[in-house]
Amino acid sequence: MAKDFELMENSNPSANPTFHEISSLSRRTLLKGGLGATVTSFFAPIGLSAIGGCASMGGTSGGGAKLGFASVPMNNLDAVTVPSGYRAQVLYRWGDAVGVAGKMPSYKPDASNTAAEQELQAGMHHDGIHYFPLDGDRRGLLAMNHEYTDDGLLHVGGMQNWSAAKVAKSQAAHGVSIIEIAQKGDGQWEVVRPSQYARRITSNTPMFLSGPAAGHSMMKTKDDMTGRIALGTVNNCAHGVTPWGTYLTCEENFNGYFNGPETPDLRQARWGIRKGGAGYRWHEFDERFDLTKVPNEYNRFGWVVEIDPMDPDSMPVKRTALGRAAHEGACVVQTKDKRAVVYMGEDARFEYIYKFVSRDAVKPGGAKANKDLLDHGTLYVAKFNADGKGEWIELTHGKNGLTAANGFADHAEIVISTRQASDRVGATKMDRPEWITNDKDGWIYCTLTNNSNRGVGNNPGVDAANPRANNTMGHIIRWRDSGDFDGRTFEWNHFVMAGIPNLARAEAKGNAKGDDFGSPDGLWADGRGVLWIQTDISTSVLGKDDYASIPNNAMLAADITTGEIRRFLVGPRGCEITGCIATPDMKSMFVNIQHPGETASERNDPNNPTAISSWPDNARPRSATLVITKIDGGIIGT
Ligand code: FEO
Ligand code: CA
Ligand code: CA
Ligand code: CA
Repeated sequence: MAKDFELMENSNPSANPTFHEISSLSRRTLLKGGLGATVTSFFAPIGLSAIGGCASMGGTSGGGAKLGFASVPMNNLDAVTVPSGYRAQVLYRWGDAVGVAGKMPSYKPDASNTAAEQELQAGMHHDGIHYFPLDGDRRGLLAMNHEYTDDGLLHVGGMQNWSAAKVAKSQAAHGVSIIEIAQKGDGQWEVVRPSQYARRITSNTPMFLSGPAAGHSMMKTKDDMTGRIALGTVNNCAHGVTPWGTYLTCEENFNGYFNGPETPDLRQARWGIRKGGAGYRWHEFDERFDLTKVPNEYNRFGWVVEIDPMDPDSMPVKRTALGRAAHEGACVVQTKDKRAVVYMGEDARFEYIYKFVSRDAVKPGGAKANKDLLDHGTLYVAKFNADGKGEWIELTHGKNGLTAANGFADHAEIVISTRQASDRVGATKMDRPEWITNDKDGWIYCTLTNNSNRGVGNNPGVDAANPRANNTMGHIIRWRDSGDFDGRTFEWNHFVMAGIPNLARAEAKGNAKGDDFGSPDGLWADGRGVLWIQTDISTSVLGKDDYASIPNNAMLAADITTGEIRRFLVGPRGCEITGCIATPDMKSMFVNIQHPGETASERNDPNNPTAISSWPDNARPRSATLVITKIDGGIIGT
């Protein structure tokens, strides 16, 4: 039952059939519609068959006025479940053509597409996403990350007979997609093919290095003696968008791609780099990813990368002034005098939260007028004090002990070794900072997804900001800077502590007003005062492959004013939900389903790819972008 698809765009919310009825109808409806592979997938809410249309929900469901939908119960179906009155359409799956004119290879369901074809198709493992309007709310560009690959699913035979061709395909399935999309008269969205904007950025795309580390000796390699031009981006997780219309993609766990020496040096060790530590095995056929052969290559990763989605010929730029980290999230706001402030988290246990304040004000004139704006400014790291206040500690050479005598020869070394600089100044070690977003009142929210090592063994113990030992379920913290976004101090509190009672290994109890959730990750505050929370309770926390007995990851909406939280969407088995943005009118929402079918073990079994999930095609699972709309055409969430 769980592998059925539903097509309900014509359904009458006041007369929802039961789930059983839908299941038996759906396949027939789908085929009859002849809509092919890009068809809407819509799943009725389970157990909500008696609930009427959404328009009546706000006043009768007992919650804040901003949340007007019926909560979707937890489930473990291999399906996307959204509330009654909504539909979810699959728009852009791994392997779908990006839309380059004359170069639109079809997806091959047996994973036999070549690397060259993959370079023209959606990558794997969709993550951060943003909508850039071309024609308001009806036509625009989506820029999105492809965080990593499951090489068990990516290739015929998975990682058996590992080869240069498989490495090339894995590299081509990483990076970023830029696609053009448009809404048709019937309300459905489609990828516009061909499009002059269509573009894939991969782990081999040339990109500039700019800012204080560009040209530094630690950034030079035998293939780039300038230290100013890198190849590619990896592990792109979360994102940001600038006031001048560019997309920021964040290089997260880049260290996992590099093979290290037998005896790592201190810098390598701070990244956990070691011999045999490169699980993707690219180094076996591409020496760039072997530190014993190209020792500086890894310094060229771990950056926030700026991309101009409107100019397909533009080279992405790695902005080193923002510091090097396992970057996740780059939330950009502006001070009253129009300087850009970027809040960033580093998703690793006991790592840090940063902010960068630009030296110069944002100029009118878009990307071209602001092409150097993120190269000059001041980087800070957060210290959360126990009294609900905090401070931003400046990471500038010569200040706060960041001197040559203490191992930082110049400012470039501070931005290359940002972790060590933060260690040195005594910043607060956080429970894996993931996404960051801002509300209209100046509060900045950050998901602290979990940290099962907190207070365990020799690891740091609890503190006021990270108050739970063995924090398997995570929490959301928020702060507001004094005065303006460039303030050097802030106030902070916990927005919510997450927890799901009775879930395996979920010792932490939450305090959500409303629906339970665990391991918050994706986060977006919309303009209405609703905080969209996406979860990634990973298989490493759950620790088992028994997907029939554990709830799937979900997306919830929180009313920031009342704190009420309602579950809005439940994903298919083995996925996480990550990446959320809407059209400016809030009538179409884009949500990414990442790694459906992911196993507790590292990769899928290539001989049994549908063991856990066959979403969305009833075949090999594929990460995909959903579009969610209200059947009555209304505003999402109301
Ligand atoms: Fe890629 Fe921290 O999630
Ligand atoms: Ca994440
Ligand atoms: Ca994840
Ligand atoms: Ca995560």
